[in-house]
Amino acid sequence: MSRKVLSVLLATAMTASILAGCGGAAAPAADTAAPAAEEAATEEAAPAEEEAPAEEAAPAAAAGTKVGVAMPTKDLQRWNQDGSNMQSQLEEAGYEVDLQYASNDVQTQVSQIENMINGGCNVLVIASIDGESLGTVLETAKAANIPVIAYDRLIMQTDAVSYYATFDNYMVGTKQGQYIIDTLDLDNAEGPFTMEITAGDPGDNNAKFFYNGAMDLLKPYIDEGKIEVKSGQVDFEKVATASWATETAQSRMENILSTNYADGTNLDICLCSNDSTALGVENALAANYTGEYPIITGQDCDVANVKNMIDGKQSMSIFKDTRTLAAQVVKMVGQILSGEEVEVNDTETYDNGKGVVPSYLCEPVFADINNYKELLIDSGYYTEDDLK
Ligand code: BGC
Repeated sequence: MSRKVLSVLLATAMTASILAGCGGAAAPAADTAAPAAEEAATEEAAPAEEEAPAEEAAPAAAAGTKVGVAMPTKDLQRWNQDGSNMQSQLEEAGYEVDLQYASNDVQTQVSQIENMINGGCNVLVIASIDGESLGTVLETAKAANIPVIAYDRLIMQTDAVSYYATFDNYMVGTKQGQYIIDTLDLDNAEGPFTMEITAGDPGDNNAKFFYNGAMDLLKPYIDEGKIEVKSGQVDFEKVATASWATETAQSRMENILSTNYADGTNLDICLCSNDSTALGVENALAANYTGEYPIITGQDCDVANVKNMIDGKQSMSIFKDTRTLAAQVVKMVGQILSGEEVEVNDTETYDNGKGVVPSYLCEPVFADINNYKELLIDSGYYTEDDLK
């Protein structure tokens, strides 16, 4: 084993032991991914062999190894956290980092990825804006033997993606659905309860997983009449929110409220796939609704939403600790570059249209008023002041 490879492994092990991992077992990587990873490792391993001083093993190993990190937007809090966690953890492991945000503009993201390829990045980590729009630029990455890790969102219709690291997106939805079932005691309560649904961006492969996870649990109650969706908008296409935009979710909910709830009918449940859409729904309710406040779900534990949770304006949010996902991806980068087996725990769920992409799924948890302090403050994710 070259010193470079050993050092990358050491760096990886250090990072993994410092930061909580996602748990789960290693599984063999897909065949398609291996050649690019191995070639990259071989190319990078050779020159550093003479240079790496043993006592500075970890940083020297990664020195000269550049990782491109493409994030969708700075507008949403979580991507800022993802980006800065990735950057600091990669730098700590000794890598050079090219971190870019694309203002939710697909063309900007494509150009940024082109620049990363031309700028000598050895691995690309990409949280796509539109999962379907990166096929062409990733052909170039593949031709240059640059492995690609899809970060949080799967990149579709390309065989250039080596791995996928995310939170279990279906489980995000089931946790939201189960929260509603438990809170209202749906199996025993008489009902009926009214519900409106706000889902995510159709261009984001995750959005349907969230929706399906929740709806697989809630649909039986809709079918038996215990939950009534007064707007009649139930199908994903009807309830989706382009770009996950707060304003879009808000104006749609304003319409729903004025058409269906202005006569004093109570709205009992707002199933919202994430916090940016939940915020839109909460804004609409604040201005247009006087009934009993509904249960509102969310995802990400954004500061504005946790504050609303503390104020009783949002019931729960799914907590996806971006430090954990970043740690997992840094580990995968190290494994790819060293030609080691890459740790994955799902080789079935995420087919991107060209085949199943070997994935690592971290486990999401729900946060509400009862456990947010322990999850968010005690863990150092936020300070108490952040939430004031
Ligand atoms: C992420 C969510 C996020 C949403 C909007 C999804 O792909 O998984 O955590 O709320 O995008 O940015």
